[in-house]
Parts: sequence; structure tokens; C-alpha cells
Amino acid sequence: MKRIVIFASGSGSNAENLIKFFQDSDHASVIQIFCNNPHAKVLDRAKRLGVSALSFNRVAFTKTDDVLDILKATEPDLIVLAGFLWKFPEHILKCFENKVINIHPALLPKYGGKGMYGMNVHNAIIQNNESETGITIHYVNENYDEGAIIFQVTCQVSKQDTAEDVAAKIHKLEMEYFPKVVEQLLNE
Ligand code: GRF
Repeated sequence: MKRIVIFASGSGSNAENLIKFFQDSDHASVIQIFCNNPHAKVLDRAKRLGVSALSFNRVAFTKTDDVLDILKATEPDLIVLAGFLWKFPEHILKCFENKVINIHPALLPKYGGKGMYGMNVHNAIIQNNESETGITIHYVNENYDEGAIIFQVTCQVSKQDTAEDVAAKIHKLEMEYFPKVVEQLLNE
């Protein structure tokens, strides 16, 4: 059985979708949620779905080996960042080369980098009159949103669309494609 761990910071709809998808799988399972915000909704979702979850602070993550040691003990085959807002520290990345992936709600390299998350991304799409956007699933390296791209899929943005409409379209793509891409990566 392949072991997936998820890092999330907020609502966790992607985390929930991944947990549910792999609950029906004989090949892989989400075994642990890591969260940097003790009040995040993702922790409630994990509890409801019976998946172990823990929260940690910035010192434990970036300045000590506390999070690294716990992560190593989970023996993950894949570390999935799903709405995780902190930069992933180099000392952890070094131990899990090519095993950390992220989902970004735009077509990287456009609309990536610091500050480009959540509604900031969709507002920028509308402000710039983009006619399409999409999602990117990519490997994580030491820079925000710059690792090798694994998968992209696009959707159209119409002139009438608001940033909320774009967010809904992106959400739909994430729900449909993210679990499938994770599954495919684990089968490679
Ligand atoms: C998603 O749009 C994801 O692409 C981005 O943050 C959002 C997280 O939403 N990185 P959720 O917490 O999974 O509901």
C-alpha cells in the first residue's frame, strides 16, 4: 500500500477529496494530514474522515527537525501540498527528492510566486482579462511555484465571469483531476 501524506493550511476541500478517493483504493491511502494552523477547517475534515492529523508551528517546521522527524516516521511515498501556504523548507525537501508535489490554481509560470494564492490569483485573472486559466500540479523545489510541471488542464474564462466564477471552475478541475494525477504518479 502506497502512503500519501498531505500538507494543508485552510479549508482542505482538496485534502478531503483525496482522502475519499483513496479510501476506495487498494493501492494507496492518505495516512496523515500536516497543518500549520490549529484552527484550520482541514483538521475537522480529517477527524470526521478518521485520518490522523497534526498541527505544527513555524519553528518546528523550519528551524528544528521536529516536523521532519515525524514526516520521516510516516514513510511517505508522496507528500502532497494541497492549499499549503508556507514555503517548504530545504532541509525537508532534501530528504524527499521528487516526492513533494503541489497544486496551484492557475497555469504556471503565469500567476505564481509569493502572494499568488486563493482569490488573489482569480482576481488577477479577471483584472488582466485572461480568456483562460486552469490548474497546475508540479514538483516542489526551493522556490515558490517553480518546480517541474507534471500536469496542467485549462478552462475558459468568459467576459461575464467574476473572480468567484473562476474560483468555482478551478475548484471543479481540482476535484476532478488532482486524485487521478496523484494516483498516476504513485503507479509510475
Ligand atoms: C486550492 O485552490 C489550491 O489549488 C490552492 O489552494 C486552494 C486550497 O483549497 N493551492 P482547499 O483548502 O483544498 O479547499
